[in-house]
Amino acid sequence: MAKNANLGQAKAAKNDEFYTQYADIQKEVNAYIEYNPDVFRGKTILLPCDDPEWSNFTKFFAQNFEFFGLKKLISTSYAIESKKFKEGYMPSLFETESPQYDIDKTRTHGKIFILDYDANASGRIDIDDLQWKYLEGDGDFRSAEVTALCAEADFIITNPPFSLFREFLLWLLESKKLFLIIGSMNSITYKEVFPLIKNNQMWLGNGFAAGNAFFRVAGGTSADYADGVYDVSTGMVKFRNCCWFTNIDHGRRHQPMTLMTMADNLKFNKKLKGQTEYYHYDNFDAIEVPYTDLIPKDFDGIMGVPISFLEKYCPEQFEILGIDGGDMGVFYGVGAHLTKQECHDRFAEHRGFRRGKLCYRDCDHKLQMCYRRILIRKKQ
Ligand SMILES: C[S@@+](CC[C@H](N)C(=O)[O-])C[C@H]1O[C@@H](n2cnc3c(N)ncnc32)[C@H](O)[C@@H]1O
Repeated sequence: MAKNANLGQAKAAKNDEFYTQYADIQKEVNAYIEYNPDVFRGKTILLPCDDPEWSNFTKFFAQNFEFFGLKKLISTSYAIESKKFKEGYMPSLFETESPQYDIDKTRTHGKIFILDYDANASGRIDIDDLQWKYLEGDGDFRSAEVTALCAEADFIITNPPFSLFREFLLWLLESKKLFLIIGSMNSITYKEVFPLIKNNQMWLGNGFAAGNAFFRVAGGTSADYADGVYDVSTGMVKFRNCCWFTNIDHGRRHQPMTLMTMADNLKFNKKLKGQTEYYHYDNFDAIEVPYTDLIPKDFDGIMGVPISFLEKYCPEQFEILGIDGGDMGVFYGVGAHLTKQECHDRFAEHRGFRRGKLCYRDCDHKLQMCYRRILIRKKQ
């Protein structure tokens, strides 16, 4: 099994060229269309960080322009000279054969691609009607030029540069638009992100097949990644902690999980082998639920669940109350009633203890620190 197969690897690789597969975009977007067939009707979509010559977002939306009833599609690309990874760049024939091709600008300027009418008079609006020109700058999403495009967009959709994810998210939230983006599941612990998840202003999308996201990479070798992440034969990397973040509604999030009672879990679930009860935290009034499928359907108190719970989260079934870990954990109540000294006196026996982090004593009375937990409660 791959070690550390996550987006942290992508950051370490100092390479943002991870291209999303067409089938993954299709699977995700179809979830919104199934829930609301008119979700994109009459709307404008902005795809920043996207180059239709190399990536699939523009292709997908251009090909479905009429089917979705789109009003306008805008994508912007980032200049090769500004990218971290520049090796082997060649302008495409699409660019070099266009009258506006500029041998200097091709390396230093971003491009804007617009689709909003049947430019070639073929009788339908599709990818062949894309019009393009060079941007004034390099296409950085943070530039005034690209930021101004948010104003006319209803949706902002992309797989942003992993190395700038936090910055991208803040930029995106500033726009107050509907969005659909790919990111690391770990980012839900960011102080800017968690309150949005808690308040149901942002949630996880439908998700990648079996939780595995495959991306085509530009350049790189298996030595750049942990074992099993990069497949030389396909030129793809596999990440397991990737998810879609969105504020667009879809059906999966309204499907409640099928769960068992506490007694049945303790009796039948092998993951609780040797336990006669669920552990109660030592520093918070809640029980430890180490796997999402162990959530007891008949427990009315607060439960600490893994972050991956969000993949199954249904707001009609549970409410999210908080998160543990660090200052944010303290802010959301975990251990806030204990002073630093009290924490030290009670938990110093475990080197990993931090104020705000959840812990419990196991059957042998040994102090155990939990992985990051989200605090939830069943909706009545
Ligand atoms: C993870 S890749 C995804 C590409 C494409 N959207 C896809 O999903 O196939 C992120 C892209 O953003 C570009 N990028 C990096 N920094 C950027 C910036 N500051 N502004 C705009 N794009 C940037 C990278 O060069 C890369 O092509």
